[in-house]
Amino acid sequence: MEFAEQLKGVVRIEDVVGEYVRLRKSGPSRYMGLCPFHSEKTPSFTVHVVHQFYKCFSCGAAGDAIKFVMEKEGLSFFEALKSLAERYGVPMPKRSQYADDDSRMRAALFEMHTLAAQTFHANLQSSAGEAARAYLARRGVSAETAEKFGLGYSVRGGRGLVRLFEERRFAAGQAEQSGLVGKREDGSRYDRFRNRLMFPIHNEAGKIIGFGGRALDAGDEPKYLNSPETPIYKKSFVLYNLHRAKEAIRKEDRVILVEGYMDALGVTAAGFASVVASCGTSLTAQQVQTLKRHSGRVLVNFDPDAAGANATAKSINLLLTEGMHVRIVELDGGLDPDEYCKQNGAAAYEARLAEAKGYFYWLADRARAQHDVHSSEGAAAILQALLPAVERISDPIERSAVANDLAAYVGADRGTILDRFRKAAAARQTKPAEAPKAALRPSERILLNAVLQPEMRGEVLAELRALDAISRFASLRIFQTAFALEEAGAGWGFEDLHARLEPADQNLLTEAAFRQDERDTPEKVRAAMESVARDGRLWRRDQLKARIREAERAGNLEEAIRLTRELAELERAA
Ligand code: UTP
Ligand code: MN
Repeated sequence: MEFAEQLKGVVRIEDVVGEYVRLRKSGPSRYMGLCPFHSEKTPSFTVHVVHQFYKCFSCGAAGDAIKFVMEKEGLSFFEALKSLAERYGVPMPKRSQYADDDSRMRAALFEMHTLAAQTFHANLQSSAGEAARAYLARRGVSAETAEKFGLGYSVRGGRGLVRLFEERRFAAGQAEQSGLVGKREDGSRYDRFRNRLMFPIHNEAGKIIGFGGRALDAGDEPKYLNSPETPIYKKSFVLYNLHRAKEAIRKEDRVILVEGYMDALGVTAAGFASVVASCGTSLTAQQVQTLKRHSGRVLVNFDPDAAGANATAKSINLLLTEGMHVRIVELDGGLDPDEYCKQNGAAAYEARLAEAKGYFYWLADRARAQHDVHSSEGAAAILQALLPAVERISDPIERSAVANDLAAYVGADRGTILDRFRKAAAARQTKPAEAPKAALRPSERILLNAVLQPEMRGEVLAELRALDAISRFASLRIFQTAFALEEAGAGWGFEDLHARLEPADQNLLTEAAFRQDERDTPEKVRAAMESVARDGRLWRRDQLKARIREAERAGNLEEAIRLTRELAELERAA
C-alpha cells in the first residue's frame, strides 16, 4: 500500500481538520464548521468521517486529510505527508524523490529558524545575555514566561547565524531567503538581528517562521525589527501567539486581540491564554478569517493612544465585515494591556474584559467626544459616523435593535434623525440564499452510496452493468468511473473516485455521499435496484412503442411486427 493510504488509515480527518476548524457533529458520520478556505457566516464545510473527506458546499473546496494540510499550511504533498506522519507518530519511509526544489527550500527555512531560535535561546542564558535578562526582569517578565514564549537574545555585532548556517551546509541562497542573514554590497554576510531581545513567531501549526527583535539600547532603531516576508512567513496570514492560544480561544469562545508582543506575553502571564497580537500592522481579512475559525467573538484591546484608537476603529470595520461579534476593552490610566495586568492584576483585567462595550457604544463615545450631541447637526454627524458600522450588521433584527439603542445612547431627538437612521439601517439588503441545485433521484443516490461501500459495491456494480440502466442517470459518468476503477482490480476509496471526476460530477458525488448519514439497508438497496430496473423497462417499452408507431406510419410492416414481438417479450419479463 502507498504510504499516503497507510497514513490516511491512521489519522482521523476530523482531528486534522479540527485543529483549524471548530467542528460540530451534524450526523453520525458528519461534522460541520465554518469553511477555512473562504469567508462565511453559516457553516457549509462538511467533513465525512467514513469517506475521510471534506467538502465545502459553498466554495467547493474538497479533499482528504493530506490535501487539507497542503492547502491549510501551504505545504507540498510530501511536506504534508511528513507533517501528518510526525504529528500522528507514523514512521515515514525515506523516499527523497518526493521532495521538489520548493519543498526543499521550505524545509531548509524551517530548519534554519529552529536553529536560530535555539541559538538565541542559548545566548539569553549565557553571559552575553545578561543585559537582556536584566531587561526582562525590569519589565516584569518571569523566567517562566520567557521560557514559554521561547524568548532569546541576538548578540552584538554577530555573525553567529551566518557561520552556523555555513557549518550546517545550507546554501547561501537558502540563508539569504531566510531573512535571518543579510548581504552587504561587497558580498559579505551578517546576522540581521543584533543585540535584540528575540520573539519567535510561529505559524498556526506551531513551527517557527520568523522573529521580532526588540531593541535593548535606547536610541536603537527601530524599536522592533521584524523578519521580512519569506516563503514560510506571510505576514498578512500570521497572528502572534495563535498556536498557543487557539485551544483556549475555542474553549472560552473568545479571543483577546492586542497590538504588541509584550501585550501577548503580559496578558498570558496574568492567566489569560486566549490572546493573540496583530503585531502593530493593520489587521488583515485573512487574519480575521483565521481567528473566526476558532471563535466568532473578539475583544479588541489595543493601546490607549491615538494610534491605537485609530487602529481599533479600522479593525472594527474589518471584523464586522467578516461577521465577528466585536467588543472593545477599555483600560483606565492610559495603560496598555501588558502594563495594566502588571499594575492591577488578573482580577481587574478580567473585570475590564467582562464590561467591555459593544463596538457601537465605543464608536458612539468616540463620535460624542468629537461632536456636540445637543445641536441637531452634531447629533446628525454622530449618527452619520455610526451608520457604516450599523449597516454592516448582517442580521436585520439585530441591526434595527442596535440602531434603536444607539439613537437612545447618543441622546438624539426622537423624530427625523432617528427615523432616517432606522431607515438607512433597515435598507441594507442581505444576499438571497442560493437556490439548491437539482438532486439525484432517490434510487440513484442509494445505489451510488452502495457503490461507496466496499462490501456492497461488487454486487451492485455487476447488476447495474447487466441492467444497462445507468445510461440515463445524471450520475452516469460517476458510475462509469466506478466501473473502470473496479475493473482495474485494486481496491479503491472515495478519494480515488472523486479525483477522477470532472468538477460537476465531483459535486454530484459529494452531494449524494455527504447528505447521507445512515447506511442504507440491503433491503433498501435492493428496492432501489428494482426501481431502477423497472424504470429501465418502462423506458425501453416507451421506446419500442414509439418505434412501432413510426414503422407503421412508414408502412414498414415487417419491422413493426418484429418490434411488437420484442415488446411482448419485454412485458412478459416484467
Ligand atoms: P508597541 O510599541 O506597543 O510595542 O508596538 P510593545 O509590544 O507594546 O512593546 P513594548 O512594551 O513597547 O516593549 C506594538 C507592536 O507593533 C510592532 C510590534 O509587533 C509591537 O509588538 N512594532 C512596533 C514593530 O513591528 N516595529 C516597531 O518599531 C514598533
Ligand atoms: Mn505597547
